[in-house]
Amino acid sequence: MCGIVGYIGKGDAVAIGLDCLKRLEYRGYDSAGIAFFDAEENRVRSAKTLKGVADLGRVIDEKKTSPVAICHTRWATHGGVSEINAHPHGDCHGEIWVAHNGIIENYKELKKWLTARGHTFVSETDTEVVPHLIEEIIKGNKARGGNPSLAHAVREALGQLKGAYGLVIMDKTHPETLIAARNFSPLLLGVTDSGYVVASDATAILKHTNRVIYLDDGDMAVLTGTGHEVYDVGKNLRETTEHTIEWSPEEAEKGGYPHFMLKEIFEEPDALKNAIRGRLVPQEGLAKLGGLADVEERLRNAKRILIVACGTAYYAGKIGEYMLEEYAGIPVEVDVASEFRYRKPVFQEGDVVLAISQSGETADTAGAIREAKEKGVLCVGIVNAVGSTIARETDAGVYAHIGPEISVASTKAFTAQVAILALFAVYIGRMRGMSLATGKRVAEELQKIPELVAHILETQVEHIKEVAEKYREAKNFMFLGRKYNYAVALEGALKLKETAYVHAEGISAGEIKHGPIAMIDKDFPAVVIAPKDSVYEKMAGTIAEVRAREGRVIAIATEGDEALREAADDVFYIPKTLEMLTPILAVIPLQLFAYYAAVLRGHNVDRPRNLAKSVTVE
Ligand code: AGP
Repeated sequence: MCGIVGYIGKGDAVAIGLDCLKRLEYRGYDSAGIAFFDAEENRVRSAKTLKGVADLGRVIDEKKTSPVAICHTRWATHGGVSEINAHPHGDCHGEIWVAHNGIIENYKELKKWLTARGHTFVSETDTEVVPHLIEEIIKGNKARGGNPSLAHAVREALGQLKGAYGLVIMDKTHPETLIAARNFSPLLLGVTDSGYVVASDATAILKHTNRVIYLDDGDMAVLTGTGHEVYDVGKNLRETTEHTIEWSPEEAEKGGYPHFMLKEIFEEPDALKNAIRGRLVPQEGLAKLGGLADVEERLRNAKRILIVACGTAYYAGKIGEYMLEEYAGIPVEVDVASEFRYRKPVFQEGDVVLAISQSGETADTAGAIREAKEKGVLCVGIVNAVGSTIARETDAGVYAHIGPEISVASTKAFTAQVAILALFAVYIGRMRGMSLATGKRVAEELQKIPELVAHILETQVEHIKEVAEKYREAKNFMFLGRKYNYAVALEGALKLKETAYVHAEGISAGEIKHGPIAMIDKDFPAVVIAPKDSVYEKMAGTIAEVRAREGRVIAIATEGDEALREAADDVFYIPKTLEMLTPILAVIPLQLFAYYAAVLRGHNVDRPRNLAKSVTVE
């Protein structure tokens, strides 16, 4: 996600802005920029860079002081990684400048409307429509003899934006004013002795103040160096409350969580909302994947999909296999990328390779794509990092839009990948005979998923922590699942291995009687994923098989299933949903179980030994 900083007051806005921006670098970014009012030259100056925040200091005449500045670190979503796409973005005359975090869903329509009115755009971003829209509104207000103020125009512009935004806005003709607006993207006001500092999160401002005013969705704050007004979504001036932050800067980076892994698990409801946002048309049972528009006809005529990925992304791909076969009726093969590229795959007419990667830099996955492209095969991607190697080398794709995943252990990326694969299954399925009713049902259930994940996080965490403590002596675990949750068993085992360094094996539950069950005894517990789905009875049988051999069982069950409370030693409950979507819910307790197991063992949870966040070597 992007980092936003704004400052207005008697202090040195450039120095304060850049200092605060440096503290947001932990969020991950690919470009940065600043805009500030140069009183001597009576204009707004801006600078952008791909070389890191520090580089901005070198391009700015350090002697310049300014009363107002806005700064930004960009995590690319719309538009590749380039200086021209870096924020802040200005209007036609370089007077109104905006830095933005979030996604303007209706930017294409706005850009078309503004272009028709003579506005010229220089970037590929959704953000750039905001300063031009404000410019157009001010021009209209002046022409009608209306209120020419920046605040009035911004409020009107915000009413025309659809999607998520955290915005800071400045204007050469109103250098005494800084405007901040929030809708689904966090933004707070820091109250300092010299003025106000606006930021995406508290990390940025703690060196300057621990006094904050939190903005709510729909709020617009009008700041001057000496005062503030906050208007709510109904345009009413509202009371504000000043809070004191007790966190250290280190704690603030993690949003108050002890580790990025836990923070990212708790981000999953929002991450899922961002991954799904603007991509479903529930009333028509359709998925809208704009990144695939150029290859839509080739996808319509696809005869087979070959999914390639590594690690956690591979497990997401295995879930995608079942989704696409059941809901789109298309044959699917899934391979770990490191096998795919060396096994001389035989391609046929109508093949499509689907690469899944959070980082977009995994060498084996990139290698698999090159192998396929050499053979002329269409390659599409599901990637989080915009502008990454895999994003650029695939012919088309879908971005996850979940912001950077800092912890080595992939959590929010996995659930977002599974959600996007469900979107993909509807997208392909509705081209191939999936009924309107089925498309609507999947769309409706998918839209509920973020809240269902939030419900698990609200109700199960303490119990999961207790169970991790109960099994802290266990040296081996078996994770068992079937069908859609076989891959969840694999993923749950991987989480425990890579964070707690405990041996864990993910096994298809139907396979244990072909050998693995020989390992079960009182010291070899099994985690059994047994939601109320089409294989529930089989999984209940698996639990009985394990218990009959003195094996202890931790079950993942559907809320209300009292039978499993009796049958298993411990149970984590998840809400009911479509079978194809249960992996998104079932994996949450397993992510938390691994996290607490790692914490109990005193490991470096975010940076496990021997591991890298992105495996860019083969
Ligand atoms: C996940 O917890 C692991 N860190 C690892 O398996 C990871 O999923 C794998 O390396 C693939 O990474 P990618 O999604 O960035 O391609």
